[in-house]
Amino acid sequence: MKKILVIGIGPGHPDQITVQAIRALRAVDVFFVIDKRKETADLVRLRHELCERYATTRPHRFVTIPDPPRDRTAAGYEEAVGDWHRRRAAAIGDAIAAELRDGETGGFLAWGDPTLYDSILRILEQVTAAGAALEYDVVPGVTSVQALAASHRIPLNRIGEPVLITTGRKLAAGWPEGADTVAVMLDGTGVFADLPDDVGDDDLEIYWGAYVGTDDELLVHGPVRDVADEIVRTRADARARNGWIMDTYLLRRHRTEDAAGSE
Ligand SMILES: C[S@@+](CC[C@H](N)C(=O)[O-])C[C@H]1O[C@@H](n2cnc3c(N)ncnc32)[C@H](O)[C@@H]1O
Repeated sequence: MKKILVIGIGPGHPDQITVQAIRALRAVDVFFVIDKRKETADLVRLRHELCERYATTRPHRFVTIPDPPRDRTAAGYEEAVGDWHRRRAAAIGDAIAAELRDGETGGFLAWGDPTLYDSILRILEQVTAAGAALEYDVVPGVTSVQALAASHRIPLNRIGEPVLITTGRKLAAGWPEGADTVAVMLDGTGVFADLPDDVGDDDLEIYWGAYVGTDDELLVHGPVRDVADEIVRTRADARARNGWIMDTYLLRRHRTEDAAGSE
């Protein structure tokens, strides 16, 4: 039987990794690295560095899996993503079949935590459903949302209140009903700077962070109407400087905390 470990490696700082993840890294014979695009070469390098630093107790090898291109012009978003995941699953299934021997352990390093906005678990489900004889386990990691809150030194939730995690694409369609704290990921365009009418920015506070947890970390906090332009500029400069950016932000409506609630 082949074994796969899906290991959450945190959002970028080599110290933001759990002891369980380090143990898992040390059990891997073959690291599978999905090479997404040219501009993420830095992220591929970071994964290699983590392995060099922690996977020191046994010989291992790397197998790079080129990511199939995604059709960003397709009209149906869900359909296009579904098709892309199927092609990615086929590429990953083929790589596991060809490169991992029976009795060996393969590893996928998932940025942050593998269960949050990451397709690897859905893909492995497809690979096993297609008949591959393998078992897999998941090692959790620190998410970028947790790292963002830590860097800003804020609790994620208001007392006794929920937190909603969503994408820039969803936020662009309107403010999530009933939420007053919203964490936004995967926002390629900076939706915070041009919020839909129903959101308004009169009473909205933003806690923004890019490359959170790393040496390049950038943080901005303030009322959206005061700091949105600064974030747009900071974001554009950083993207131009590094060739890529990963940023996350928390939006919170202003109101007096309900002291009667529980944590
Ligand atoms: C594909 S999702 C992966 C999320 C990841 N699984 C997690 O647990 O954070 C990528 C998004 O995560 C966020 N992200 C990941 N690492 C980040 C970091 N170091 N700083 C800020 N945002 C980050 C960004 O919103 C980015 O668009």
